Amino acid sequence: MNLTIKDIAMESGYSTATVSKVLNAKDNDVSESTRNKILKIADKYNFQLNRAASSLVLNKTNTIGILVPDISNPFFTDIAKGAEDYAYKNGYSLYLCNSYESLEKEINYMKSMIQLRVDGVLIVGAKYFDEEVDEPFPLDIPAVEIDRDSIYKNIPYKVQTDHYKGACLAMDYLIEKGHKKILFVAGPKNSNSAHSRYEAYVDKMNKNNFNIFYEDIHSGDFSIEHGYTSILNIKDLRKYTAIFCCNDLIAIGAMAALKELKLNVPNDISLIGVDNIDLSILSTPPLTTMGQPAYKLGFEGCKMLIESTHSNLSKTTVTLAQELVIRETVKDIKY
Ligand code: RIB
Repeated sequence: MNLTIKDIAMESGYSTATVSKVLNAKDNDVSESTRNKILKIADKYNFQLNRAASSLVLNKTNTIGILVPDISNPFFTDIAKGAEDYAYKNGYSLYLCNSYESLEKEINYMKSMIQLRVDGVLIVGAKYFDEEVDEPFPLDIPAVEIDRDSIYKNIPYKVQTDHYKGACLAMDYLIEKGHKKILFVAGPKNSNSAHSRYEAYVDKMNKNNFNIFYEDIHSGDFSIEHGYTSILNIKDLRKYTAIFCCNDLIAIGAMAALKELKLNVPNDISLIGVDNIDLSILSTPPLTTMGQPAYKLGFEGCKMLIESTHSNLSKTTVTLAQELVIRETVKDIKY
């Protein structure tokens, strides 16, 4: 149902002029009770201003919202830093919303950003599908997806890396070093970045006729805890010579478990991660990983968003490269 200002006026009993003033924050002469009644009706229907119809009166706020799934993960902190740098340089303020991978929180924050009348949102989606939620509501403000697919299906702009191709490069590197018995520690099932890496792992193992022990593959959070517990739960680790971890935090957790099990990295088992967060340099030994340009993802995403509010930017997806960062956790066992 496409609600209009007229519908809200009818339901509230106020004129369209009064409703328009309230929705455009030009309501100094409107009483608090009238304002609250109108905003309550608008919120009930998830009403968003039709920018085409009201663009003449729409007042820009020079604010941008960024929604990230886990601010404790340095990968997302770097995305936020890149976005904030570009926003500040161009006269915008940034609202940072952290969903901790909760779709409910993400949706509530998205509603808050709309009510705050931000000029646009950057979203790193908590999930790209959910059994209970189809599309929460048609997003009618400028938006750019960064890194991952989100639950909103009509966002025309995206900045990402090629998660499948990056995972293939990681697998190629392990295979080039002679590894055939490779374990995969998976990320969350409803994150397309994790799913693409899992698909690349399976494709590369099948293409080389290597055995996949599916009972040992466990999905879970992009977290140190998930990497640690996954490794401890593997019944017979010694059948593997290498572990591909879905991100660096999982790899760091896996390294802690391997140390507890008195397995040396890389002499007893090799390890590779994804992201190249700063912690991957500090791990012992320093982690070999597929580097992602997180800062640039945020910077370019914010640039795309602001440009889309100033011009009729056509539907655009920018894909940046992942690059192999060779450090000390993969051993050459060919000979
Ligand atoms: O570390 C978090 C992971 O989820 C990254 O690899 C990134 O691609 C995101 O989707």
